[in-house]
Amino acid sequence: MGFSTDAIHVGQEPDPSTGSIVAPIYQTSTYVLEQLDKSKGYDYARTNHPNRKALERTVAKLENGHAAYVFTSGMAAIDSVFRLLRPGDHTILSQAVYGGVFRLTTKLLVDFGLEFSYVDTSCVDRVKQAIKPNTRMIYVETPTNPTMIVTDLAAVSKMARERNLTLAVDNTFLSPYFQQPIALGADIVVHSMTKYLNGHSDCTGGAVVLARPADAEKIYFIQRSAGAGLAPMDCFLVSRGVKTLAVRMERHNKNGMEVAEFLAGHKKVKRVIYPGLASHPQHEIAKRQQSGFGAMLSFDVGSLHAAEALLNHVHLCSLAESLGGVETLISLPAKMTHASIPREKQEEIGITEGLVRLSVGIEDVEDIIADLDGALSKA
Ligand SMILES: Cc1ncc(COP(=O)(O)O)c(C=O)c1O
Repeated sequence: MGFSTDAIHVGQEPDPSTGSIVAPIYQTSTYVLEQLDKSKGYDYARTNHPNRKALERTVAKLENGHAAYVFTSGMAAIDSVFRLLRPGDHTILSQAVYGGVFRLTTKLLVDFGLEFSYVDTSCVDRVKQAIKPNTRMIYVETPTNPTMIVTDLAAVSKMARERNLTLAVDNTFLSPYFQQPIALGADIVVHSMTKYLNGHSDCTGGAVVLARPADAEKIYFIQRSAGAGLAPMDCFLVSRGVKTLAVRMERHNKNGMEVAEFLAGHKKVKRVIYPGLASHPQHEIAKRQQSGFGAMLSFDVGSLHAAEALLNHVHLCSLAESLGGVETLISLPAKMTHASIPREKQEEIGITEGLVRLSVGIEDVEDIIADLDGALSKA
């Protein structure tokens, strides 16, 4: 079946007991056993519940994985991936990863004996040079948040496979609709489902999709042991969102391109970073490995002062963290999503104080552009 059909039907069969076309929300913590050692498939909601199982089947199918497990947030999902490692293991990460991943790795997981290096993964040779005898994993965000750097997944996965390294990819920015990392050779895909998979900004959630059955077993063990599996109501909300993923992404993509082109031609904007523009350094790679460019973009207005003036004069665009919802969100990574990265490091990886991030929503694009145009006149 096609992507849209799978998004609507896999894991979403009518409820067998009533015929309800939408699965009920199983708002219960425990399940009564028929007899000792005989359940109806569920015993306790931390371990599993029908809404979680349904969503996990959908996400696994859309990402072409062997299995998927869903968590209370993207960070909980990512944390579970690093728990596949042992003290002493080394991981190479994309240099400009989401600030929360930078914080998790530099401030928490290092205390458990894990080692991390941050490398420009858009250059395969730099990744190769960073490999050490104890390297076990390469963790790539593509495009990166918020610098929009694209990594050639086929090239990195070939290199990782030859060296027996696990490749994990954060596919949050594009969703499985525009990018299929497992088909390009990744072993693990992670998502902040808070973003496009849910799409309506009404809950947080995360997913880990595994290509290898052995990894799937371990992640399920971590999910049920550590207890960060997604709750029934939130699974229901993400499942509802996923059904419209394909149509939302088409509209996001169209709006993203139009807004990028508008900004690229605006005199107050120094630079637009959007993989769909021919000026993007990895435009050709993006064209090859993505089936769309999505709706995330960053642009530089030259200074903190100009950025503040812009952000304080938008009306339709909401000044808020997060991304991937139907509404357009605007933010200043240096002071918001990436504030946990020290200033010098921010500059080194391209997060200038005037860099504004935009998650282009699916409103009428003329309205988004008019709002940005009005606010830019104050910048
Ligand atoms: C690319 C990316 N990955 C992971 C996360 C973390 O997800 P969550 O906020 O759902 O924990 C985010 C959050 O913004 C993100 O942008």
